[in-house]
Formats: sequence, C-alpha cells, structure tokens
Amino acid sequence: MYHDAFQPIVQDMEKARALFCAFRTPPIQQFQCIAEELHRRPGKWMRPGLFLLSVKAAGDITAKHHAVAAALEMVHNASLLHDDVLDDASIRRHAESAKALCGNRAAVLFGDLLLAGAFHLVSEAGLPEAYKMLSKIVQALCHGEALQDCLGGTPEKITPENALTVAERKTASFTQCACRCGHLLGNGSAAAADALGEYGRCLGIAYQIIDDILDIVGDEKIEGKTLGTDLVENRPTLPLALIIQRARDEALALIAEKDVSSLADLVRHSGVIADATAEASRRLDEGAAHLDNAANISPNALNGLRPNFQLILDALRRKLDTINR
Ligand code: FPP
Ligand code: MG
Repeated sequence: MYHDAFQPIVQDMEKARALFCAFRTPPIQQFQCIAEELHRRPGKWMRPGLFLLSVKAAGDITAKHHAVAAALEMVHNASLLHDDVLDDASIRRHAESAKALCGNRAAVLFGDLLLAGAFHLVSEAGLPEAYKMLSKIVQALCHGEALQDCLGGTPEKITPENALTVAERKTASFTQCACRCGHLLGNGSAAAADALGEYGRCLGIAYQIIDDILDIVGDEKIEGKTLGTDLVENRPTLPLALIIQRARDEALALIAEKDVSSLADLVRHSGVIADATAEASRRLDEGAAHLDNAANISPNALNGLRPNFQLILDALRRKLDTINR
C-alpha cells in the first residue's frame, strides 16, 4: 500500500525486517506457530516506514535506526495480538488471528515477548531517546484502549470529541512519535520534527477514523480482519458518536435493545458515514498542511522527501474514496 512512498528507504526497511525476523521465541510449539504466521503475513510496515522516512528526511540512516524501526514493528504486532484477544477477533491479515490459532494465553504471552524483544533491541542500540519514545508509545496505546473501555457502553460518553481522543491515544500517538522522534534521531531541527510529528498525528487520526468506518460498512474479505465488533461493544468511535448525536432517541433505543444490525443500518442510511469520511478527509488535508510547514522550515528541509510523505496521505485518501457513503 505504501510501496512508492517507501521507495527511498527500501534497503533500510529490508535491514529492519531482517532484525525483526531474527527475533527468537522460547521453543514452545504455539509460539513458533504464531511467529511463522507473523513472518508469512508481515502487514504494511507503516510505522517503521514513517520512522525511517523521517530519519532520512533529516540525515543518514544508520544501523541503530534499523533496530528502532524493527522495534516499532514489534510493538505494533504486540498491540495487535493483544487487541485481537480484547476484541475477540478471529481474523487478522486475511487469516486466522493468533488467538484463534493458538488461544488467548499464547497470543498474550507472545505479545509480551515481542514487547520485551523490542525494548531489548532499542537498549542495545544505545539510543535513550528511542527507548523513551517506545515506552511513551506503549503507555499511550494502553491509555487509549483503557479509555475506549471506560467510555464505551455509556451513550452519554460516546461523543465525537471523546471518539477522537481515543483515536489520538490508541493510534495517532504512535504515528506522531514515529515521525517526530525519527526526525530528531536523524539530527533534524526540533521545529521540523514537531511539524512532522503533527503530520503523523493527523495521519493517525484519519487512519483510525477510516478503520472505524470500515468496521461498520467494510467487507471482511477485503479488509482481512474481523469487523463489526465496535457496534456490538458500543465503542466510542466517530460513526457511533455521530449517530447518537444525530438520531439520539432512535440510536439509544437500538443500543438498549442490543439490536446491532438495525443500529448499523441506521448508521449506514443517516449520512453519518459521509460526515465521518469528511472528518477523515479534513485530517488528511491538515496532515498535508503540516507537511508544508515542515518542508518550509529551511531550504531542502525534508531532504526532498516531501512527496514521499504525501504519498502516504494519498494512499489513505484512495482508501477513503472506496467507502460507499
Ligand atoms: C487496534 O484497534 C488496536 C490498537 C490501535 C491498539 C491496541 C493496544 C492495546 C491492546 C494495548 C496493549 C499494547 C501493547 C503494546 C501490548 P482496533 O481494534 O480499532 O483496530 P482493528 O480493526 O485493526 O482491530
Ligand atoms: Mg481490534
């Protein structure tokens, strides 16, 4: 999906991937089964790609940066393993999820191993700033998930503002940190790193809004993961928040009756999907504006890589355009 965007860092991504693949688990059959699946279905590598592109936009990528990139992907995979347990999701990356294949306990423990592996890699790299970044990301993800649980199930708390705060915590904090810290670790200026971080934040929010829309109107075969759980659990997502705002009585009645299929129909036919896609689109525009800020900080700021960052926004916009409003 981000192939063109990551063209200038293709070799660096390969080096990060080699470190990721070198991660070894204890010789337990279930762990080996999960590890094989992770290697067979590697995902999009968006977070390490953003990180390495942000380093390169400032200076040279070194072996230490490859280690941090691999660690970011390990944290991301750990979070998905745990997320599928929390969401009781049986499909991930077009196949059975780790929890479906090997059970909740093995999936959680494998996630823990990946987290430990990530911190080990970064501590070996000797970059205290990257270590701090990693712990900040893990804390934000846990905060986002916990906030989602606290707000979910209580319609009064499912507001657009709260939904965006959850998206910010559980997704955008990761992409923001990857861009900002990457640029700083490449010896970029603080101003450019902040602007790139804002780009990453907007991109992350748009990404999560799209994910939340597709949870309702998407096709499991195309997305390759379990969909439909957000409405069942009354999670604070933007589409649910908007329908509660727009057709309050009807939405609350359906929530009380646990009539998820009628609630989904109401969301689909009320204009709420168009409003949520418009919000995602605004976030993508905002991301592009922050990219301009970063690029205009000095001549040759971003090392000529502005178009590559833009390509990631473009890929998300194409995804947004596939949504049937
Ligand atoms: C996917 O959300 C999940 C996240 C963005 C974060 C999950 C974080 C945790 C489970 C906290 C623990 C974190 C670590 C690092 C172990 P989603 O369910 O909306 O997306 P999906 O449709 O891809 O499942
Ligand atoms: Mg999930």
